[in-house]
Amino acid sequence: MTRVGFVGWRGMVGSVLMERMRAENDFARIADPVFFSTSQAGQPGPDVGRGASPLLDAESVEALGEMDVILTCQGGSYTKAVYPELRAAGWDGYWIDAASALRMDPDATIVLDPVNRPVIDAALDAGKRDFIGGNCTVSLMLMAIGGLFNAGLVEWVSAMTYQAASGAGAKNMRELLSQMGALHGSVAGLLADPAAAILEIDRQVTDCMRAPAFPTANFGAPLAGSLIPWIDTQLENGQSREEWKGYAETNKILGLSDAPIPIDGICARVGAMRCHSQGLTIKLTEDVAIAEIERIITSSNDWVRLIPNEREQTIRALSPAAATGMLQVPVGRLRKMNLGNSYVSAFTVGDQLLWGAAEPLRRMLAILDE
Ligand code: HSE
Repeated sequence: MTRVGFVGWRGMVGSVLMERMRAENDFARIADPVFFSTSQAGQPGPDVGRGASPLLDAESVEALGEMDVILTCQGGSYTKAVYPELRAAGWDGYWIDAASALRMDPDATIVLDPVNRPVIDAALDAGKRDFIGGNCTVSLMLMAIGGLFNAGLVEWVSAMTYQAASGAGAKNMRELLSQMGALHGSVAGLLADPAAAILEIDRQVTDCMRAPAFPTANFGAPLAGSLIPWIDTQLENGQSREEWKGYAETNKILGLSDAPIPIDGICARVGAMRCHSQGLTIKLTEDVAIAEIERIITSSNDWVRLIPNEREQTIRALSPAAATGMLQVPVGRLRKMNLGNSYVSAFTVGDQLLWGAAEPLRRMLAILDE
């Protein structure tokens, strides 16, 4: 790989990407990594093993046009503003993007190579140039149960999600902690007194989270001590956009858009920091034994980690607290449901900044180098 331009490398997803690329020594494979900035062009860029060069202007079509590959974590508004101009100017490099703006474009491929490497290879063979990271919840679900889809065993899926604050952005993570602090602060004195009545503590906490001063500028509602059963915008059919993505993106990732598998559910924001969790109901196309389902799941990629459906192991290993910062994607609570022999439950957790955002992008960059 020759010239690779990085945009949005300092934000939350971009920082995780940089960490992962340094950890995997990815920069050694790039002849000329070039760092762009929307606000600090001219200032020194990061040193990724070749000294620091000045940052280039991320809005300069001319400078971007010199790149063989552009990898952006800058966000959808940037993509919408810059990408069409760049292509209109005749640039035919590879565009790798964390934002959703281009995902459903017919010429774009959603990348999650442990699950859809054949789809990526077919797109490369066909001369496609746009490779976009998927929605975090979708990517994490597919890292967990993509093997069942690829084995043709899934008739439909209901995904009920428990999504972390990080999916809404860095400010939201801070707001969640501010809310937690405010709640604790409102009853710190009573908590220190073992004799204080719990219903009085609860009343004061409730008053605190309902008070106008409670910090909700980013979420628009209390999250700490509560939850928010709506993520992203409202669609006309009653779904949230996040719920719509579960169907549209899963099928696109799997190359099934012409004969899509029904997927639906309710997406909720909970007070986790950066791990999304999902409770899945999977309708199988046939009655398959749990042992065989476990075998298919565990052999589907190197990162999925089966947690036996047993209490102690579940509460220890199948949680945001356990999965944060890990590339492993735990999946457990696998059992046949009372609904019938072809209905299986599953619960999965994953770090939404790793497989949910940065990891598929750095791997796509590596695939271009193969
Ligand atoms: N839309 C996701 C969320 C994050 O709000 O959690 C990005 O995929």
